[in-house]
Amino acid sequence: MNTIDRLANAERPHNPFIYVMAIIVAFNGLLFGFDTGVVSGALLYIRESFHLSTVMQEAVVSSVLVGAMVGAFTGGNLADRFGRRRLTILGSIVFFVASIGMALSTNVYVLVGWRLIEGVAVGFASIVGTLYISEIAPSDIRGSLGFFQQLMITIGILLAYVTNYVFAPTFLGVIGWRWMLGFGAVPAAVLGIGVYFMPESPRWLINNGQPEKAKQVLSRLRSHDELADEIEQIRSVSKAEQKGSLADLREPWVRPALIVGIALAFIQQITGINSVIYYAPTVLQGLGFSNVASIAGTVGVGIVNTTLTIVAILLADRVGRRPLLLVGTGGMALMLVILGGSFFVPGLAGVIGWITLISMILYVAFFAIGLGPVYWLLIAEIYPLRIRGTAEGVASVFNWLANFLVALTFLSVVDTLGKGISFWILGAFTILGFIFIYEQVPETMGRSLEEIEAELQDRALVGGETTGALPKSRDDIDRP
Ligand code: BGC
Repeated sequence: MNTIDRLANAERPHNPFIYVMAIIVAFNGLLFGFDTGVVSGALLYIRESFHLSTVMQEAVVSSVLVGAMVGAFTGGNLADRFGRRRLTILGSIVFFVASIGMALSTNVYVLVGWRLIEGVAVGFASIVGTLYISEIAPSDIRGSLGFFQQLMITIGILLAYVTNYVFAPTFLGVIGWRWMLGFGAVPAAVLGIGVYFMPESPRWLINNGQPEKAKQVLSRLRSHDELADEIEQIRSVSKAEQKGSLADLREPWVRPALIVGIALAFIQQITGINSVIYYAPTVLQGLGFSNVASIAGTVGVGIVNTTLTIVAILLADRVGRRPLLLVGTGGMALMLVILGGSFFVPGLAGVIGWITLISMILYVAFFAIGLGPVYWLLIAEIYPLRIRGTAEGVASVFNWLANFLVALTFLSVVDTLGKGISFWILGAFTILGFIFIYEQVPETMGRSLEEIEAELQDRALVGGETTGALPKSRDDIDRP
């Protein structure tokens, strides 16, 4: 689609049902955000209830991340085999049961067991949410709709912070952790019931030999003119009745996209976002803020994260994915350099707290317009249909792995090297990430998923077996 078509299409009204579907599917993100965010506050009380050692506290926190690796690894393949809708329903049932299981845990081992299971559902949610949305969305609003998942992740995190804030200062705190963890059952029910009434992804249906059904679904979502074109496009890339497998990921033409997905997964995490999201209250307390101020500051971080994600939604299909990623990562790097530097400048002792708070908030803001939403969207866009879920699953496993490693090591690295150096290390990773994005990450705005796939294959053929780079700029992708 050229620029003029894109602008013309941007004015085209879309069926409101698409937006309703995207919001319901994005409840996957809400559960992902809530479950990963809630534990920081709940942990204080779980620790008291079960008299936990440091190791057991770490087990409570990180079990979700380990489960999520398993969920992402298996979920991608399940989504390709059984469909996006069925996997979402399965995930919501697991979420529901595990939330209640966690709330009723009689000892810490049972709790860790349920958190592992909950983590598997988080892993499913992390891939199937944007995948499902991007496959039902018309290409001119696919970016904005795809970002709904990240918006809901940030709302889930904010909800977790607010839940912690409400329960923490009251006598409910001691038993309140059960309510905090159990609350996840509510969005899980909304997701499961909502998706039960939704249709399967038309792209998955065509790839699984059900073109008539796909047509029915698309006819509810598209105008008559768009329908035939889109079905033809999907058919042309689909190899009906053929299911993809892990072995297909080794095909040379898939490799550049696979590398981009895995690298972005790492970059999203090793640039340190969760050292702020999970540890913000601890960092603020360490800087001398009172308990109330630390909690308020943390809620502030959550609000900025959500607000800037909304800004990204407004920009995704106007400026493109690459500019958002580059501005976002560049800004994060700058903030990390300032943050680290503030610990070395003599005479700043009194104002360090404020410099830290402001640069931390701006750092989160830059993440929220770039790496946060764009990573999850791109890995749902750049893979061939036949193996889209599987490939996305592989990239996500690396995302959860990197998340786990940062969560596990961040505090000890700070203890050993000090805050200044630690933030500079994160800054160095971010600069490397910026360079990688500049060199390798493709622009996908305004193109159908099938055009992206065809481009990927063409590039690999032209560039030789393994060197087919992905299209980087709009000039590149608009070329006939
Ligand atoms: C990341 C999470 C992070 C969240 C913060 C997501 O895109 O994958 O690890 O906690 O953004 O908003």
